[in-house]
Amino acid sequence: MKATHFYDFSPKEDSFRSDVLKGLSLETKTLSPKYFYDQRGSELFEQICQQPEYYPTDTEIGILHENRTEIAQLSGTGCELVEFGCGASKKIRVLLEGLRPKTYIGVDISREFLIESTNRLSSDYPWLEVHGLCADLCEPITLAKPSDGQRIGFYPGSSIGNFEPDDAIEMLRNFKSLLGPGGTLLIGVDLKKDDRILTAAYNDSADITAQFNLNVLERMKGELGAVVDTSAFEHRAFYNERLGRIEMHLVSTQPQRIEIDGEAFLFEEGESIHTESSYKYTVSEFQALCWRAGYEALKCWTDDDALFSVHLLRVTGG
Ligand code: AVI
Repeated sequence: MKATHFYDFSPKEDSFRSDVLKGLSLETKTLSPKYFYDQRGSELFEQICQQPEYYPTDTEIGILHENRTEIAQLSGTGCELVEFGCGASKKIRVLLEGLRPKTYIGVDISREFLIESTNRLSSDYPWLEVHGLCADLCEPITLAKPSDGQRIGFYPGSSIGNFEPDDAIEMLRNFKSLLGPGGTLLIGVDLKKDDRILTAAYNDSADITAQFNLNVLERMKGELGAVVDTSAFEHRAFYNERLGRIEMHLVSTQPQRIEIDGEAFLFEEGESIHTESSYKYTVSEFQALCWRAGYEALKCWTDDDALFSVHLLRVTGG
């Protein structure tokens, strides 16, 4: 098998510890959703994507598949392709034959998962030079300029929705400096819609999303030695219409405490940890956000039911 190059800029264990200590001290207890993605969490996320209620994955793949020729025409071939938050690197396979990039760089926070997925990609596409970069997307990433050709970013799955809008703008600006002038970004964004469809997507009947949410408590036990009764927390997800986002919480079903490093965090019955927001955008709301981040809209594709959107953006000059 062809060697995959692997670079590790992963956050150290201490940032998990300090972020948890900080997040549980807030008036509204909060954890960053990036901590969902240890090995188990990444596997559970892959299972979420296969649940019938979780429409974004199949819908986005359908959009990419249907428009793959036009995407390749507009993006250009022979490029260096950077996939942000690549996970299992499944969606990119729809585009690889058409785009025929010279190089693929998969960036993800989950180390073992990234090694597996880039190795698989490398053996399935022998003509492609594959690199893995383990890094936190919230931090700026620097890469040497591509030797020739353009750089294309691919950020599928509406992961941009897991950031507060101002943080999403900052991250898009970070991507922009990596993509360079004239670089393009293909990004998947979940659309606003009937909240029954949204609520069902985050409350699947097989309870995989619940396990995914609760897994962050297991991670705290395993990695931080936290003392926590995980059976006394339950998953809750609902659509917050005013803010245009799904919110996920871990709700304490009784008065209790979580202890870490001798510090106790007290919970009343019904009090929650806010573990994730997933913002939904209309096409024009998202284009306005991108404009503020320094991109112009080249094209946007949606499915017939207007569930999901895929935007092709170009870095504006300056
Ligand atoms: C990764 N991200 C876009 C998913 C979402 O829909 O916000 C994470 C997720 N959380 C629960 N289900 C899926």
